[in-house]
Amino acid sequence: KKVVLAYSGGLDTSVIVKWLQETYNCEVVTFTADIGQGEEVEPARAKAEALGVKEIYIEDLREEFVRDFVYPMFRANTIYEGEYLLGTSIARPLIAKRLIDIANETGADAISHGATGKGNDQVRFELGGYALKPGVKVIAPWREWDLTSREKLMAYCEEHNIPVDFSSKKKKSPYSMDANLLHISYEGGILEDPWAEAEEDMWRWSVSPEAAPDKPTYVELTFEKGDIVAIDGEALKPHEVLEKLNKLGGDNGIGRLDIVENRYVGMKSRGCYETPGGSIMLRAHRAIESLTLDREEAHLKDQLMPKYAEVIYNGYWWSPERRMLQAAIDETQHNVSGVVRMKLYKGNAIVVGRQSEQSLFDESIATFEDDAGAYDQKDAEGFIKLNALRLRIAAGKGRQQS
Ligand code: ARG
Ligand code: SIN
Repeated sequence: KKVVLAYSGGLDTSVIVKWLQETYNCEVVTFTADIGQGEEVEPARAKAEALGVKEIYIEDLREEFVRDFVYPMFRANTIYEGEYLLGTSIARPLIAKRLIDIANETGADAISHGATGKGNDQVRFELGGYALKPGVKVIAPWREWDLTSREKLMAYCEEHNIPVDFSSKKKKSPYSMDANLLHISYEGGILEDPWAEAEEDMWRWSVSPEAAPDKPTYVELTFEKGDIVAIDGEALKPHEVLEKLNKLGGDNGIGRLDIVENRYVGMKSRGCYETPGGSIMLRAHRAIESLTLDREEAHLKDQLMPKYAEVIYNGYWWSPERRMLQAAIDETQHNVSGVVRMKLYKGNAIVVGRQSEQSLFDESIATFEDDAGAYDQKDAEGFIKLNALRLRIAAGKGRQQS
C-alpha cells in the first residue's frame, strides 16, 4: 500500500507523514510544489528523507500554474461573491492533478492532504482526485485523528522524534495562511471576529495605501487573445508577468481584501487576502475587453462569470460544466488583444488608456462633433418608438404605472 501526500515540509504535514506510516502501515510518497508561495521547496527533501520517505517529488509548477489555471480563469474576469479573486481555489486543481499523476507513476492507490474537515480545500483536492482517478482512496488525517490542538501535535512530534524546527526564531504566524503566485490568504486568529481589524503587520506582500509612494507608477500591459504577454513592451511568460505585477501592485498598496465569504461546506468564514498582481490584471483585462468585445458577447460572458466562479470555488475545476464554460469564455477572447495603460497609486489600479487593432470603438460614430453622416440621428426616433410600443399599449389600456 502506498499513498501520495501533498507535503509542504511544514510541521503539520510532517506529522501526517509519520501518522500515515503508523496508522496505515504504508509507504508514503511526498509531493512538494513551488507555485510561487515564496518559500524554498528544496528543504522539504531532507525533511522527508529524515521521516523515511523514499520517493520524494519536488517540482517547480509556477509556469504551469499561471499559464493553465490562473490565465484561463482571468479570461472570465472571475470573482467569487463580488470580491474574492480565488487565489487558493485555483491552485487546488493543479495540486490534485499532480497527486494523481504521481500516484499513477509510483503505483500508489491513495492520496492524502493536510486540509481540515471544515474547509473548502478538502473538497477541491478530493473532487479533483476522484474526477481524475475514480477508484482512488483518499486519506484526510484531519478528519480522522485526535491531534486537535497545537499541544497534542507537539506531543506527537516528541513521541515520534519528529524534528521540530526550533532553530528559526520567527514565531509561528497566528494565522492560517496559504500563498501562491496569485495571492496570500490569512484566516483564523483574531480574524475570527469579523469586527476586528487586521493588524498592519499581518500583511506580507503589500504596503498600506497610506504608506505607498506619493508618486504614481505607470505601466503598460500588452494583451494577446485575453492574456497578458508583455509589460512595458518586454515579453514575459505568464508567471513572470504575475511576479512583476505583484511587486508593482504591492509597492503601491494594491490588492488588499477583507471579507466574510460562504464556504461550500455551509459556514461563513472571514478571510483577508492580498492579490496585488491579480487586482491589476482584472482591471486591465476588463479595459481591453471594453474595446474589443461585442456588447451582447460581453454581457452574456458577465452573466456566466458568477457561475464559473462558483464552480471553481466549490472545487469543480475538473468537471464537464467547467470545461463547457471555459470553451465559451475562450471563444470570446480571439480579438482581445491590445495595450492597456494603468496608473498605480495608493491602493488603486486605474485604467488611463487602452488601444487595440481589433478595437470596435469608432470615433467617427461616437463623436459629439460633426460625424459627417456616419450616424443618422433620425434613425433613433423609430428605434425608440418601436421599443416603446409595448409600453404605450399597456399605458393605453390603463395599466398601473406606479
Ligand atoms: N477561504 C479561501 C478559499 O477557500 C482560502 C483558503 C485558504 N486555505 C488554507 N489552507 N489556508 O479559497
Ligand atoms: C482548511 O480548512 O484546511 C483551510 C480552509 C479551507 O479549506 O477553506
